Amino acid sequence: MENNLSILWASMSGTAENVADTLNEKAKSKGFVTNQLELNQVTMNDLAKMKNVAIVTSTTGEGDLPTNGEDFWDDLKNSDKNLKNLRYSVCALGDSSHDIFCGAGRKVDEKLIQLGAQKILDRQDCDGSDEGSDSWGNNFLDKIKI
Ligand SMILES: Cc1cc2nc3c(=O)[nH]c(=O)nc-3n(C[C@H](O)[C@H](O)[C@H](O)COP(=O)(O)O)c2cc1C
Repeated sequence: MENNLSILWASMSGTAENVADTLNEKAKSKGFVTNQLELNQVTMNDLAKMKNVAIVTSTTGEGDLPTNGEDFWDDLKNSDKNLKNLRYSVCALGDSSHDIFCGAGRKVDEKLIQLGAQKILDRQDCDGSDEGSDSWGNNFLDKIKI
């Protein structure tokens, strides 16, 4: 049986994008059928049809989504879509020298819970680097493997 994984990412300077790329390669090597997309490419209708979703986003501005995730966040924050079939986890990148640490990943995570999505693994907050993202990715793949 096919085991699908959508990897949705947003990044300003490439750190979160690399985390998404690494997870994608690892997932494919383990036999997952993957779909890697920038957050802004994903509509709420798309999201509601996805089953396993790994979200990787850095934070910019003051707790904001990167440019290639802004449109997605505008749609998500205003959405009342039922996402009960969606199984997900968030890897949030940021830096604790900023007031709103990992704000982008946090707000996406909180809104997905509000919409009924199933958080199958706690959010990983990465401080100043991608440290922690590898074990987060491994744990996530373990959770969704059939
Ligand atoms: C202009 C700017 C604003 C930032 N704002 C925040 C912030 O509000 N909260 C936070 O936790 N990190 C913030 N960061 C830190 C980045 O999220 C962090 O360096 C991250 O690893 C960058 O990942 P990326 O290369 O995928 O964009 C900011 C970084 C920059 C350059």
